[in-house]
Amino acid sequence: MTSTYRDLFDLSGRVAIVTGGAGILGRHFCLGLAEHGANVVVADVDGGAAEAYAGELESKTGVSCIGMACDVACESSVERLAAATLEHFGRIDVLHNNAASKSDDLEAFFAPVEEYSLAEWRKIMAVNLDGVFLVSRTVGKRMIELGRGGSIIHTGSIYGHLGSDSRIYEGSEYLGTAINTPPVYAASKAGVAGLARYLATQWATHGIRVNTLVPGGVESGQNDIFQSRYSQRVPLGRMAQVGDLVGASIYLASEASRYVTGQSLFVDGGLSAW
Ligand SMILES: NC(=O)c1ccc[n+]([C@@H]2O[C@H](COP(=O)([O-])OP(=O)(O)OC[C@H]3O[C@@H](n4cnc5c(N)ncnc54)[C@H](O)[C@@H]3O)[C@@H](O)[C@H]2O)c1
Repeated sequence: MTSTYRDLFDLSGRVAIVTGGAGILGRHFCLGLAEHGANVVVADVDGGAAEAYAGELESKTGVSCIGMACDVACESSVERLAAATLEHFGRIDVLHNNAASKSDDLEAFFAPVEEYSLAEWRKIMAVNLDGVFLVSRTVGKRMIELGRGGSIIHTGSIYGHLGSDSRIYEGSEYLGTAINTPPVYAASKAGVAGLARYLATQWATHGIRVNTLVPGGVESGQNDIFQSRYSQRVPLGRMAQVGDLVGASIYLASEASRYVTGQSLFVDGGLSAW
């Protein structure tokens, strides 16, 4: 037990792995953890970006960070991530499963459900759901062997819990194309929340907590029409800013949430409260 309630959020001396750590949200999750004292492993399929960002984190925060290339959909790559983290830091306390694929074929990714190709479905599932399983299994096993407990966080999405409202996508544009919520995205995000509940009950006796952080839509360059249509559906009247998610990640990573496991924490401006 910690000495003051402020200390509940202190992550000094802890070691955290963030997958997709070089992405839009991942960078902020890494920064939040490092600012709270954690040594951070920035893991991303883009190894160059992960290494560069780990260097930036070290100079900004003064904690020791490393960047690693890791494809969460590949068993041997995930094994290397766990082994290298232990070799470098000797412990793993926090795992944030945050990587997800935006696909390299936007036409297939945003195809209507009636036309959705099984190949695209499998490609996305391999990262968004298989990847979360693989990293959780591999790192969770190490956490059990180390015997210190731990916190595992999955990044979910409101669309893992709510149906998507196609009307907000009329006139939308992002990444140079009209967007929607692909069926595989919704199914994969429902899957990570289900897996979190399963692991939470399986690993509770090892002191490992597993929760899902559920962001609403994050403003990251969508056109004005989409931002406005989306914002009208949100009680707080706007899309999320990346920094809006960080407090919840620190809470779930730290002792502040020591009696919380198997939960989905919605950070959605109240969208799911209507
Ligand atoms: N941006 C949003 O509006 C939003 C809303 C809800 C949930 N989310 C979720 O938040 C998380 C982060 O999303 P983001 O907006 O930062 O997207 P992003 O594309 O910027 O970040 C994802 C990162 O994952 C990495 N990645 C992709 N495939 C990988 C693989 N096979 N192995 C390892 N890394 C891989 C990418 O290189 C990228 O750095 C995702 O799980 C996403 O589904 C995002």
